[in-house]
Amino acid sequence: MIGIHGTPGEDGKLQGYFDLTGLPYTSCDSATSALTFNKRYTVAVAAFAGIDVAKSVHIFKHSPVTPAQILSQLSLPVFVKPNNGGSSIGMSKVNAAADLAGALEKAFKEDDQVLVEEFIAGREFTIGVFKSTKGIITLPITEVKSKKDFFDYEAKYQGLSEEITPAQVDEVIAEKVRSTAKKIYELFNCRGVVRIDFIYNEARQAAYMLEINTVPGQSEASIVPQQVRAMGWTLKEFYSALIEDALTRRKS
Ligand SMILES: Nc1ncnc2c1ncn2[C@@H]1O[C@H](COP(=O)(O)OP(=O)(O)O)[C@@H](O)[C@H]1O
Ligand SMILES: [Mg+2]
Repeated sequence: MIGIHGTPGEDGKLQGYFDLTGLPYTSCDSATSALTFNKRYTVAVAAFAGIDVAKSVHIFKHSPVTPAQILSQLSLPVFVKPNNGGSSIGMSKVNAAADLAGALEKAFKEDDQVLVEEFIAGREFTIGVFKSTKGIITLPITEVKSKKDFFDYEAKYQGLSEEITPAQVDEVIAEKVRSTAKKIYELFNCRGVVRIDFIYNEARQAAYMLEINTVPGQSEASIVPQQVRAMGWTLKEFYSALIEDALTRRKS
């Protein structure tokens, strides 16, 4: 059961090592972990399969791009994020062109690659998906309501957000989120439990995928444990199902 955020538990390195040594594990394999650790590669693969994602520009530190070049391709507001990593560190929402350069600089302090994405308006949902020996199961959906401008570090870890599990949402929207999440899980050949972040845009009636977390938080207060409890399972039952699936896979 891999529970390490970031490198080497979330980016595929540990998974590659376990594959070499023949040790079974509950998470996505090394290729899927490495791919989904890169936000841009994740949205690119998803878009190829027809999943809705925000329009974006991918920038590398070694080939700088001017704010004007970015804004010739994307419309404001935009999100500027370090392309790898998580926890919203180094991320900004930019409403005015004059603030883009500063936001890029901040993101490049965290990573050599930066992703600039168009802002998607709508309600934010996040959903756990896992594979048991009986097939792919989606957990109850959580709605994230941030008291800040977006679900940033303070909102996430300092209580400035509200997480509602199960989300109070129309069945049509819930089904859209669930079916999209399941499709993404299959598309990326995921294993174990992953948590997929979405923004549901009402006008386009579309669930926009933001990212896939292949090692979602498992603390008592974390979202996946909330969803497991909402499903009526104990965490012990849940982790047992994940381990059972990982061991079955080794036999096959
Ligand atoms: N394109 C976007 N449109 C609207 N909100 C976004 C967008 N990208 C990110 N966000 C907001 O920022 C938060 C963090 O972004 P995310 O890509 O999930 O990174 P992290 O790895 O930090 O969780 C999201 O939960 C959401 O509130
Ligand atoms: Mg996220």
